Amino acid sequence: MVTVNFSPEIDHAKTLKILNEIRGDAMGGWVDLPRKYDMAELARIKEAAAEIHEDSDFLVCIGIGGSYLGHRAIIEALRPESPTKIIYAGNSLSHRELENALTELGDADFSINVISKSGTTLEPAIAFEAFKKKLIEKYGAEEAVKRIYATTDAAKGALHDEAVANGYVRFVVPDNIGGRYSVLSAVGMLPMAVAGVDIDKLLEGAAKMAAGFSEEYLAVNAAQVTENPIIKYAWMRYILGKKGYDTEVFASFEPATMYFNEWLKQLFGESEGKNKQGIWPASVVYSADLHSLGQFMQDGRRNLFETIIDFPTDEINAKVVTAVRTAHSMGGIPVLNIGVSEYNEEGFGELIYFFEMACAVSAKLFGVNPFDQPGVEAYKAELKKLL
Ligand code: PA5
Repeated sequence: MVTVNFSPEIDHAKTLKILNEIRGDAMGGWVDLPRKYDMAELARIKEAAAEIHEDSDFLVCIGIGGSYLGHRAIIEALRPESPTKIIYAGNSLSHRELENALTELGDADFSINVISKSGTTLEPAIAFEAFKKKLIEKYGAEEAVKRIYATTDAAKGALHDEAVANGYVRFVVPDNIGGRYSVLSAVGMLPMAVAGVDIDKLLEGAAKMAAGFSEEYLAVNAAQVTENPIIKYAWMRYILGKKGYDTEVFASFEPATMYFNEWLKQLFGESEGKNKQGIWPASVVYSADLHSLGQFMQDGRRNLFETIIDFPTDEINAKVVTAVRTAHSMGGIPVLNIGVSEYNEEGFGELIYFFEMACAVSAKLFGVNPFDQPGVEAYKAELKKLL
């Protein structure tokens, strides 16, 4: 269960209008995804994961942004057991990073999951070339293609064309789901299944949250929508943003959730930061950051609010959470608490949906389109010209 400790003033009619727009958006495919999962696709994902477990010590996951951060967030947070270890590549253009990943792989058996919705992004494309070369050298061209799993568009893009031409195993990023909303599609599900995450439980958690936004539920319970913690949170951050709190600091007390923070920053930053609008998403991991950024949080410029993601924890850590909440409130920072009852797949499934929906609603409140990323495309176009 996810709970919040605040109750902002909510415009009920506006909220319903926004929810309708989100559901009706051409990129709204993630809204019902956890409740209406394509079970044949899920079975294919599990089969592929079992095959990779059988023949690979490593799975090289190549992708960037929405094609990378979501699954890494969950894998790092849960650290499940698996016969196959994940190596990440293609999320920078640093040749040092690439060489480190190739070195880590050494002579071990491996497969590749190359993930790119557009199939044209430079960072993953370069990494893919390097790992594909190694794969072909090790196994020969014929065996190598059986070890390449391509997750990309159903019909277009360079990666799609190459995958079809060579007969790679293919998974589809649905047209109506954008990168940063795609963690529960094959984009995230294959790497997570290989890493040993219980993807059924993850979906169950997400489906629980999605139930509050189903057409059937809202048809009968529209009046209750303002009680939904997701809606409360979306409105709270919007109200704070309008009051001049232009930075949101996501705070966690679990070091393993560092990549979950990174996923959050991408989700909110790319969805909301446009038309000179939005709240800058930042993050801290306590208690380590209490000894670095803690000073600023307590006493620096008062343009921040803090969103604590409050997982169940041991007694001492729980006392730190309480102390931080009290001290930072006394320091003049609005502190929002998001309580998560379970630190496991179900809990994270709930959180994924919680933040996806909150982000979409919040961006709409700011009057921007949560599902495009013109700024990222502008950088991609400039880089293409230079290269
Ligand atoms: O959320 C997004 O849409 C972006 O962050 C993309 O995921 C990122 O740019 C990678 O794009 P692609 O999957 O097309 O390689």
